[in-house]
Amino acid sequence: MYKTIIDTIFAPRKQAAAQHSKKSHRFFLTLLSSCAVLVLTMGILVSCDDGAVDETVSFSQEGRTVKLTASVTGLETWPTSLYVALAAFDQESNYAITSRRITSGDGSLSLVLTGISDEATSVELCVLNNLRQRVATFAKIEGQQLQTETDTIPFNAGDISLSMLSAIQTAVFNTTCIGCHGENGSAAAGLFLTEGRSHESLVGKTSRRVAEKMLVQPYNGEESVLYEVLTTDLSKGWHYDHTGEILDQNRRQLILEWINNGAQDN
Ligand code: HEC
Repeated sequence: MYKTIIDTIFAPRKQAAAQHSKKSHRFFLTLLSSCAVLVLTMGILVSCDDGAVDETVSFSQEGRTVKLTASVTGLETWPTSLYVALAAFDQESNYAITSRRITSGDGSLSLVLTGISDEATSVELCVLNNLRQRVATFAKIEGQQLQTETDTIPFNAGDISLSMLSAIQTAVFNTTCIGCHGENGSAAAGLFLTEGRSHESLVGKTSRRVAEKMLVQPYNGEESVLYEVLTTDLSKGWHYDHTGEILDQNRRQLILEWINNGAQDN
């Protein structure tokens, strides 16, 4: 009787328990298969991810490729705020579209710049500042030279000095000064700013115009007459007013850094 009572009381529970265990068995199976599916999916995802990475790499290799070869000197003269790079530009902007810093030392150089987009109109061996703005250009290829069907466009810069003084010579002295300062054999104020002579004419030399000041006083840009002439109206009353020669911010920085780093002759 007790048994009956017990059965009556517990039977439904037992059934329920049996059902429950069946349910949980099924649940466990479902869980297991879900896990399997999950693991599989993750596996697929991971392998997809691999594919995506490959795609990015090939994406960055779209566009043109330029290979620079040169025999270089002067790379060790640069401070950290300015650096030599191979960079692509369009006509409108001073900011490099794509660039690659040149980190190797002096000697023979071989460097490839990839992913040069269609808007690039020149590829330059140049100096960039920390904003990737062009400060000076040593050599470049442009126009037709960049319109080629070949895989890699060659850019041979030959034997070239990439020093700070070379950058100043190219970007400042050769462009606007030497017409009066030495190109024709004679130099205004006896100041030769031509290649090979500019360093000895400037560094440690006393100014003819400004009493007791040097044209370039190593490690002291602000006190150097050269820097003052190119950044202030100091020369307003001179036989030639140089205020039209006042430099943009980037080339000022170039001259200042050169002097403040010792105004080296290389
Ligand atoms: C159109 C001619 C002309 C151009 C271009 C010119 N200069 Fe001069 N420069 C002169 C003359 C002339 C003097 C002498 C002025 C005087 O004695 O009153 C002079 C004097 C100087 C002096 C002072 C020399 C001293 O001993 O004190 C410096 C420095 C100088 N120039 C730098 C430059 C630089 C750098 C450039 C280019 C960015 C440049 N000049 C472009 C004509 C020119």
